[in-house]
Amino acid sequence: MRPVKLGMIGCGTVGTGVARLLIEKQHMIEQRTGIALDLKYVADLDQTTDRGIVFGPGVFIQDAWTIINDPEIDIVVEMIGGLTVAREFISAAIEKGKHVVTANKALLAKQGNELFRAAQAAGVDLAYEASVAGCIPIIKSLREALVANEIQALVGILNGTCNYILTKITDEGLPFDQALAQAQANGYAEADPTLDIEGLDAAHKLAILAALANGMRINFDDVYVEGISKITPLDIQFARDFGYRIKLLAICKNRGDKIEARVHPAMIPEDNILSNVSGSLNAITVTGHAVQNLFLSGFGAGMMPTASAVVSDIVDLARNIQYGAAGRVPSMAYQPDQIKTMPILPITDIVTHYYFRFAVEDRPGVLAALAGILGQNGISIKSVQQKGRKTNGHVPIVIITHHAREADVQKALAEIDRLEVVGPAPVVIRIEDENATAAETAE
Ligand code: HSE
Repeated sequence: MRPVKLGMIGCGTVGTGVARLLIEKQHMIEQRTGIALDLKYVADLDQTTDRGIVFGPGVFIQDAWTIINDPEIDIVVEMIGGLTVAREFISAAIEKGKHVVTANKALLAKQGNELFRAAQAAGVDLAYEASVAGCIPIIKSLREALVANEIQALVGILNGTCNYILTKITDEGLPFDQALAQAQANGYAEADPTLDIEGLDAAHKLAILAALANGMRINFDDVYVEGISKITPLDIQFARDFGYRIKLLAICKNRGDKIEARVHPAMIPEDNILSNVSGSLNAITVTGHAVQNLFLSGFGAGMMPTASAVVSDIVDLARNIQYGAAGRVPSMAYQPDQIKTMPILPITDIVTHYYFRFAVEDRPGVLAALAGILGQNGISIKSVQQKGRKTNGHVPIVIITHHAREADVQKALAEIDRLEVVGPAPVVIRIEDENATAAETAE
C-alpha cells in the first residue's frame, strides 16, 4: 500500500502532540493499520519555539499554502483553531480534494453545516473527533457504535478548564484565579480563557454533539449558555451540605419535536457518576433506547490526550483513502439529505429543580414573603434553610424547589427582587438529579 501523505498546519500544544505521536509511534501505527503515514510537512509561523521534535529536512515550514498546493498531500490536519485563517485553509483544502482533520470546535459549531456540505460535494472526509472532549471517542461513538440507538439524552462535562477550577475550589479551597492560572499553565485553557469560563467552549462542543445525536443541523446560536464565573465557594459549600456537587454541565435532551441544549453550572447528587469526574477530566453519559446508559470519561484537554484523538481521525481517513471509501460513515452521523432543522427549546421552557440563595434582612415575615411569591408563581419549596453569618446586614436563605418552570422562576425572582428586605441578586443554580427534568408531576 502506498504511504498516505499528511500536512499539518499549526504546531502549538496539540499540533506538537500530533507530530510526536506520528513520529514516535509511526512503526506501531503501521503494524496496526498496514499503512505508512508520512508527515510530509508541518507548517507554523513560529519557527523558533523548541517543540522537542527533530523534523526531517524540509518538513518544518512556515507557509501553510505549500501544504494546500501540494498535489501529493492526501490529508490536511488543521491545528490552528479560531474562525478566520483556519476556515480559509480548511475550505481551500476541501476545494483541492484533500481530506481534512480538525479539532476546531468553535469553527464547526458556527460554520460546520457549510463545511460538511462542501466536503460532501467535493467527495472528501472532514473528521473532527478531537473537537469534543479530547481523547474521549464520543464522536465515533455517536457516528458508529450507537447507530442502532435513538439518543434520548446526553449529559457531559465538556470543559476541562472549568472542571479543573471547580474541583480545585471544592477539594482544595483554592481561589478561582489561582485555579484558572494552574489550568492555563497545564495547557487546558483556550487562548482566550473567557471562552472556557463563560461556558462558550462547552457550548461549541454541545452544539456539535446535539446535532450528531439528533440528526439535526448544528445550531450553536440557540444553545443556552451560562458559565461558572458567578459560582462562589459559599455555594459550593452549601451544595455539599445538601449532598450535591457543582459541575458545569452540557445537557442535550430529546423532547420529541424539540431539543433541550443548554450549558450551565448545575448541582448534581454526590453519588451521580459525573460528581466524581475531577480535575481536567471530561465525561459524558449517553442515554440511548437500546444501550440504556453509557458512560465515557477521559482527559478532555491537554497535549497528548487531544493528539491521540487527532491521530485516530488521521488513521480513519487513511484507511478510507486506501479503500477508496470516503464518506463511508457520514460526517454528521446521518445521511446528509436526512439531516433536519430542529428547534431548541428556549431556557424559559425547561422544567427542573432549583437552588436559590437569597441575601435577606433577618427579621419576621421575610421568609413568608419569599415563600408567598414563589407559591403564587407555582413554585413549590422542597427545603429551606437559613444558613451562615450576617454580611452587610443580610443573612443567606437557601431554598431548594420541586419541579419549576424556568419562566415562572424568572418571574418570581423579579418580584422578589423588588422586596425591600432582599439584598443583592440571588444566586440561582439548576439541579440535575435523576428526576429533575421528568415531566411535571404533582409534587
Ligand atoms: N479549553 C478546552 C477545555 C480545551 O478546557 O476543555 C479542549 O477543548
